[in-house]
Amino acid sequence: MIIKQKGTYDIYGVDAKKRQYIKNVLDTLSDKYGYGFIETPVFEATELFHRSVGDESDIVKKETYDFKDRGDRNISLRPEGTAGVVRWFVENKLYGNLTDPVKVFYCEKMYRYERPQSGRQREFTQWGFECFGSDFVESDAEVISLAYNAYKLLGLENVKVKINSLGDDESRDNYRKALVDYLKPYKDELCDDCKRRLETNPLRVLDCKIDGDNDILKNVPKIIDYLNEESKNRFDKLLELLDLLEIDYEIDSNIVRGLDYYNYTVFEIVLNDSLALGAGGRYNNLVESLGGESTPAVGFAMGLDRVVEILDNENIEIPIEDSIDVYILGESENERNTASILTQTLRLNSFSCEMDMMNKTFKNQFKAVDRMNAKYLILLKDDDIKENVITIKDNKTREEEKISIVDLVDYLDTHI
Ligand code: HAM
Repeated sequence: MIIKQKGTYDIYGVDAKKRQYIKNVLDTLSDKYGYGFIETPVFEATELFHRSVGDESDIVKKETYDFKDRGDRNISLRPEGTAGVVRWFVENKLYGNLTDPVKVFYCEKMYRYERPQSGRQREFTQWGFECFGSDFVESDAEVISLAYNAYKLLGLENVKVKINSLGDDESRDNYRKALVDYLKPYKDELCDDCKRRLETNPLRVLDCKIDGDNDILKNVPKIIDYLNEESKNRFDKLLELLDLLEIDYEIDSNIVRGLDYYNYTVFEIVLNDSLALGAGGRYNNLVESLGGESTPAVGFAMGLDRVVEILDNENIEIPIEDSIDVYILGESENERNTASILTQTLRLNSFSCEMDMMNKTFKNQFKAVDRMNAKYLILLKDDDIKENVITIKDNKTREEEKISIVDLVDYLDTHI
C-alpha cells in the first residue's frame, strides 16, 4: 500500500467543509478590502527564493524542496507566497506609475521540508495578501487591519498584533553593527549556523531555533533603539493609526522575521498572547532586487490549516451545512428514471438533492433520508407519475402534500 508523505494530509468530509467555509469568509473579506484573487505556480526557479527569502534564511538553507527538472533547470516548490507574487508583478511590469496600489490575495499550497508537528506541515495552505505601490503607513495599517479582523470575523476573540520595526537601510546597518559588536565576544557559545550567520547575515542569529532560548540572545540590543528619526516617526505614526482602528497590539522587539526581505514594519498575529497565527511586514526593496523598478510593498500570510485546528480547539462553531434540501425515493425503473430527472432539475435550480444509487428498497431509502438529514422527501409512485403528480413530505413536521410535478420548483422556492 502506498501511503501519503510525511507532513502531508488528505482533507475531506466535515474538515473539508470547514475549510471551505473559512476560505469563503476570507475571500469575501479580502474582496471588501479591495484585494483581487491571484494564483501563481506551485514551482518557480530556485533562484527566486534565494534572492527574496534569502540565502541565509532557514527556509532556503534547510526547508525548500529543490530539484532539477528534465530540462536540467533548478526548480523549487514555493515555500511561501510573496516571492511568486512579486515575480508576477515584476514580470508583468506593473511597477510603472501607479496611481492606485495593486492589491492581490491568494490561498494556496506551500511546501517546506520541516519536522512535522502540530501547526507545522510539509505541505500547508497559506492565505496571504500583498499590497504594492504605497509607502504610506495607511497601507501597513490596512494590511494589519485585514489580517487582524479576519481572525476576529472567524470568531477568535483573543488575538493581538505583535509589532516591531526594522527601520530603513541606515537603521538596519547601524543595528547590524551594534549586534555584531555585542555577539562577537560570545561567538564560541553560539551554534555552528549562528557562527556563520554572524559573518554573513547577523540579523538571522535572532531568529535561530537552536540559540533562541540562549541568555545571550535574550539580552541583545533592541533594534527599536537604533531606528533613525524617519523610521521612528513612521513607526509612531503607524501605531497611532492602529490605536484609531482599535487594533490590539504590543511592541515586541524580538520580532525580526525569518525571511530576509523585510524593512520597516514587521508583525505577527498571536492568539492568547503566544500562539503565532500568521505574520507579515513591509518589503520595500524586493521588487527592485527581483528586477523591477523600486516599488514599496507590504503583506501578510496566515497558515490556514492552523486556523482550522485552533477554531476546533477553541470550540468555535463553524456553520457548515449538514443537511440536504430533498431526497427523492423510487423503486421501479420508471420511478428511478423520474427520480433522476427530478434530481437533476432540482440541482440545477440551486437545491441540494439526492436519490438512491445503490438499488436500495424503499425501506432502506427512508434510512438514507434520515442519514442525509433531508428537509423534504419525495416519494415517487408509478400511478402518480402517470397523472403528473408527486407526493412531497416535510421530513420534520411529517406533513405531506400531493402537487403537480411542474409546480415542484415553485413549491420548494416558497417552502425552503
Ligand atoms: P511566514 O512567517 O514564513 O511568512 O509564514 C506565514 C504563516 O504561514 C506562519 O505564521 C504560519 O501560520 C504559516 N506557516 C508557515 N510555515 C508553515 C508550515 N510548515 N506549516 C503550516 N503553516 C505554516 C511568510 O510566508 C511571508 N510570505 C508572509 C508575508 C506575506 N510577508 C509579506 N507578505
